Amino acid sequence: MIIRGGTSLCGMVDVQGAKNAALPVMAASILLKGKKLTLKRVPDLYDIHTMSDLLRHIGITVKFKNNFMEIDVPDELNWDAPAELVRKMRASSLVLGPLLARCGKAILPLPGGCVLGSRPIDFHLKGLTKMGAEIDLNRGSVYASAGKLKGERIILDYPSVGATENLMMAAALAHGVTFIENAALEPEIVNLANVLRLMGIPVKGDGTPTIRITGVPEANSAEAEVIPDRIEAATYLIAGIITKGSVTVRGIDSGLIDAILLKLEEAGASIEIMLDEVTAKCAGPLNGVPVKTMPYPGFPTDSQPQLMAALSLALGTSVINESVFDSRLLHINEFKKMGAKIELQDSTAIVTGVSKLIGTEVRASNLRAGAALIIMGLAAEGETVVNDLCHVWRGYEGLPEKLRSLGANIELLD
Ligand code: EPZ
Repeated sequence: MIIRGGTSLCGMVDVQGAKNAALPVMAASILLKGKKLTLKRVPDLYDIHTMSDLLRHIGITVKFKNNFMEIDVPDELNWDAPAELVRKMRASSLVLGPLLARCGKAILPLPGGCVLGSRPIDFHLKGLTKMGAEIDLNRGSVYASAGKLKGERIILDYPSVGATENLMMAAALAHGVTFIENAALEPEIVNLANVLRLMGIPVKGDGTPTIRITGVPEANSAEAEVIPDRIEAATYLIAGIITKGSVTVRGIDSGLIDAILLKLEEAGASIEIMLDEVTAKCAGPLNGVPVKTMPYPGFPTDSQPQLMAALSLALGTSVINESVFDSRLLHINEFKKMGAKIELQDSTAIVTGVSKLIGTEVRASNLRAGAALIIMGLAAEGETVVNDLCHVWRGYEGLPEKLRSLGANIELLD
């Protein structure tokens, strides 16, 4: 993508369905037997197609058109997940819990996905073992088997989003009641719990540190909706701020992005909230602010690269501590190619604001870093070429069209 910087973005974009809500809900369809799950507002993204292909490989029929998805689950499933699909996306690990609950067996190559440090699934496996699963790791794959999983009290070492989701789905068909303590609080967890309740599975406490799931013999067909993508919304708001424009995102509950909005206001942006719309504008440069990424409701790690992009042009210094992933600061090297002044100290980036960024050729190393580089290109002088955009298409539906509708000058090379 070639980006010619210097235009202030102005206008309104509609927020897509949340990638990180849709993926676990799609995996939850595995719990059904001879039944159907239909989903509204599913974003049209690479990762959604990867998960669809994974479900098809398991024997499930997935029809997807115009953000509407129909999932038909037969009686018999194939519980051996294909390596080439699993390695493309870490979220593939979300099929482990429901496969074990539904089939009593699962073979899953250890996940790949974007380069965010080690990203093991030890919390997932520890919880499933406690529920009675036999887990063997060899030749880079997880071989799991279980008779009937049994409800247990599981205390997570860390409020892991994926581990919480996997264990919720495993507990759905387990014998007895499962308590997940120190559970993740993300809105995507509440979305999954809503879908499980629609399937007839009693779930309580989602959105709090203790989630209680009562296992049922069979799950029912359901019709559900995906919540809006809070990270996509934040990305466009920050694009409006860094270009000194005014961007409105529509179809978002501002409560989902409170921590981000508060941090943007602290840095000097002006934020207006009306019903399901949020507008961000900033006439001049931001001022430097301290940022620490945290599990929800703290500042989300998925918006850290985008905010760092905006703060690289702030007046003053920002100290950004990435506490969730152990290597989600790799994008600093690409930012420095554009003139950003950033020093890395362990898991903290010291960003000294500069007066301008210079367009050059850069490479996206993962989904959010790619989005951040595009944002920087919008504010930089001259032309920026962002390569390896495949990462960006994993999480941003219609990004070129949305940016152009806001006035961005971008060209897509093949
Ligand atoms: C989910 O990843 C999201 N992905 C990520 O979004 C997001 O950054 C992350 O949650 C944190 O909010 C999806 O929902 C598909 P974690 P997940 O388990 O579940 C460590 C994006 O850009 N950990 O909460 O993988 C892990 O290494 C993506 O949309 C273990 O050590 O995140 C990390 O340091 C990127 N062992 C921390 O916990 C485990 O068993 C948080 O991971 C599991 C996790």
